Amino acid sequence: MSSITVDGPRRFTGRVRVPGDKSISHRALMIAALSRRPSTIRSLSDGEDVAHTRRAIEALGARVEDHGSGGVTVIGGLRGARGPIYLGNSGTGIRLLAGLVAGCDFTTTLDGDASIRRRPMDRIIHPLSAMGAQVQGSGAGGTRAPLTIEGRSLRGIEYTLPVASAQVKSAVLLAALGAAGPTTVHEPAPTRIHTEEMLAAAGVRVQRRDCTVTVWPGEVAPPDIDVPGDPSQAAFWLVGACVADGSDLTVENVYAGQARGGFIEVLHRMGADITVDPGSGDVRARSSELGATRVTADELPGCIDEVPVLAVAAAVADGVTTFEGIDELRVKESDRVAAIVEMLAGIGAECRIDGRTLAITGVGQASELGSATVDSQGDHRMAMAAAIAGAAGSGAMTVEGFESTATSYPGFANHLAQSTGWTP
Ligand code: S3P
Repeated sequence: MSSITVDGPRRFTGRVRVPGDKSISHRALMIAALSRRPSTIRSLSDGEDVAHTRRAIEALGARVEDHGSGGVTVIGGLRGARGPIYLGNSGTGIRLLAGLVAGCDFTTTLDGDASIRRRPMDRIIHPLSAMGAQVQGSGAGGTRAPLTIEGRSLRGIEYTLPVASAQVKSAVLLAALGAAGPTTVHEPAPTRIHTEEMLAAAGVRVQRRDCTVTVWPGEVAPPDIDVPGDPSQAAFWLVGACVADGSDLTVENVYAGQARGGFIEVLHRMGADITVDPGSGDVRARSSELGATRVTADELPGCIDEVPVLAVAAAVADGVTTFEGIDELRVKESDRVAAIVEMLAGIGAECRIDGRTLAITGVGQASELGSATVDSQGDHRMAMAAAIAGAAGSGAMTVEGFESTATSYPGFANHLAQSTGWTP
């Protein structure tokens, strides 16, 4: 296990280009894998999660040609894999692939690391089974990975998601491509819409209205795609720049679609000086005096992956910031509620859990944050959030398990050095 120590206070300056969006990268590879027509994907996420999805579609029969910085060309066509497919730490990888293969005429076993084996899979087993798929889970109640999926002819369903989850919605919509008849999904709150947008761009009939989406079965013909920068990675630099004195930093070419820019709205409410250039997608953040805010349960799915770093902003802000409806945070790569409480207690910000609400009392300014050692628990976003807190505060933050950043952002330490002058 590797650890790093980030000492502060540091300023965040300059320009950062974050990796291609992880959610879009997974979907681009999977949708391309369904089509025999070659399609080229540029600026894929260089994280391990997406590398696992690439290997998964290759194991299933797709061909992927590498053109270096020119991207990859995928020639799809799925025949089935010889052995189990390992998706590492990737919830998006395992859940979306389960939907992708559910209607194929072969059997697939999907597995992942210890964190994946702890995460709930019944949320996809139920709707896929309702479509006629044969999905066998593991563990008590058969609700965990590994999953064995015997491909079957599927039927279209109308399904209301019990949790606001783009992964579950997407698993169902990918399975819907091969079903008899249309499939409709209702969600309790808006989540990211990459799957439906990318299927529509690939020529599939898709209808969207409010929190309901319908997909009709059909062939896909995905266009070439340039994957935009990942807003969830941009969030680390933007929060760092807002909380650290003397900062002025721009993240280039950031994706800004539904349920991905929610953290910017939250930061604006806190008083953050963040401006978005809609033309270039560049987002600029400067040091700001932050105040507390309330993040409601309906709003949370729109900034779910940014909560670890928003918690750092809340720890610095003046007042008590609340995050409501936090249950889903407990079933991410780690129990992020517990991980946030541990991280912030170490550096001197008070956290309280009241039912389904996490309340963080800020210390008023970053220089008040102290020194701590935190264990990322193998969770990439906790490791990066802790490193940002370390750079902004005046103490030293030691992050154990820092190698987990490779899950989504292998270049994170280099970008931290480049934007703050920190030396690894
Ligand atoms: C994702 C959806 C979210 C998010 C995850 C990526 C996606 O998960 O946390 O990092 O690409 O669909 P849930 O759907 O479980 O909320």
